[in-house]
Amino acid sequence: MQTITITGGQPLYGILRPAAAKNSVLPLLAASLLCGGPCRLRGVPDLTDVQTSLALLQAVGAKAVRHGPDLCTLPVQAKELCGEIPAPLAGAMRSSVFYLAPLLCRAGMVRLPLPGGCRLGPRPVDIHLAGLAAMGATVQLEGDAVTLRRFGPLQGTDFTLRLPSVGATMTLMMAGCCAMGTTVLRGAACEPEVCDLADFLRACGAKITGAGTPVLVIRGRQALEGIAYDPLPDRIAAATYAAAVSAAGGQITIEDCAPETYGTFLHFLQDCGVNVKQGERWAQIARDPRRPLRGGQHLYANGWPAFATDTAPLAAAVLLEAEGPSEIYDHLFANRFACASGFAAMGADCRASGRTLYIAGGAALHGAAVEAPDLRGGAALLVAALAARGTTLLRDPGHIRRGYADLPGDLARLGARCARRQCVSPEQEKVRK
Ligand code: EPU
Repeated sequence: MQTITITGGQPLYGILRPAAAKNSVLPLLAASLLCGGPCRLRGVPDLTDVQTSLALLQAVGAKAVRHGPDLCTLPVQAKELCGEIPAPLAGAMRSSVFYLAPLLCRAGMVRLPLPGGCRLGPRPVDIHLAGLAAMGATVQLEGDAVTLRRFGPLQGTDFTLRLPSVGATMTLMMAGCCAMGTTVLRGAACEPEVCDLADFLRACGAKITGAGTPVLVIRGRQALEGIAYDPLPDRIAAATYAAAVSAAGGQITIEDCAPETYGTFLHFLQDCGVNVKQGERWAQIARDPRRPLRGGQHLYANGWPAFATDTAPLAAAVLLEAEGPSEIYDHLFANRFACASGFAAMGADCRASGRTLYIAGGAALHGAAVEAPDLRGGAALLVAALAARGTTLLRDPGHIRRGYADLPGDLARLGARCARRQCVSPEQEKVRK
């Protein structure tokens, strides 16, 4: 297990750039299976979820390799593809679900054991399955795995998502590209990463209109070429850096980002009294650590364009020491605030009840030994530790590396006293002796 040590109280200064967004890159890698030529995704961070995706592509018979900061995929013949997704790879990340549509379309069948990912509450895949069934796939559930088959090409359809799931919108957009005729998706998710997948597929030759609105129209069966593509910059990583400087104080510039994709988070920081300036491709965030932040915030996290669920724990970390009580409700995930016990161990007066996190505010945070419960919760504990007196020991069973290539390193480069250590368990210590 990794341990990150953070000694708080250092203001942060400097410039950084977020890498390509994890939540764009992972579906784009799956979508590259639909392309008749090689694809190059530029500026992809070396995250464990990316490594898992490369292993998954290899396991199903595809080829993808890293060339420095870029990932390159090669076209693969349908007969070389196998639709069996190995259980350890499916269980390692939620994004294994993105392989349902491409493998069903190309290999004719796909078997997906239960997808993993952060334990944020129940995360069913019923909308993905219902949409693919409406396009003609047979769906068979046995134990913890689902098998989909098609007998002939998928058929375009008019399908209404029962809620605007990001992942299901992406699955059905990919399936629509391979289906006969026109697919209309109603109640689709409008997140920037959905638009990024649509932009990628369109650049490959797909006919998709309406991305970024609740109604998507896809004209299927266009031949898709391979392309070189720059995925969207990671808006959640950018929000994490913004949260870090808001908690610790200092001034940072985030370059080559797309501030409008995390504008709700920047507005929230401004409401708390953080100084935010932004241009089309950059944001500058400054906070005087001697001046307390304003609490009294009521945030409601939901799908785009609302406050992003992935930034809810980061907002909580900023609000712990702010003046006045705040509350954050997460409409999407039942267990978004598993980090609350870690905040409390650091001296915060906060409590998760149902989907709401209540924060009394005005805490004097101190270092503690805490554990990352999930990806964004882990990042939020790190942010809180930057504001705390003394040293925090954050034990992380690997969550943070799933979404940030080197968050402790990024923060250390800004001046934080933050380091990553490989922690040796007592059993490993015995073996060494
Ligand atoms: N849902 C269903 N049925 C489905 C699909 C979703 O009930 O078939 C529910 C989920 O259980 C959840 C809600 O719908 O309560 C929203 O889920 P959605 O499908 O929109 O999310 P996702 O595709 O599983 C992606 C990101 C998440 C991000 C959410 C919301 C990836 C790999 N993950 O998940 O990112 O929080 O959208 O924006 O793209 C993260 O990066 O840490 C992360 C969790």
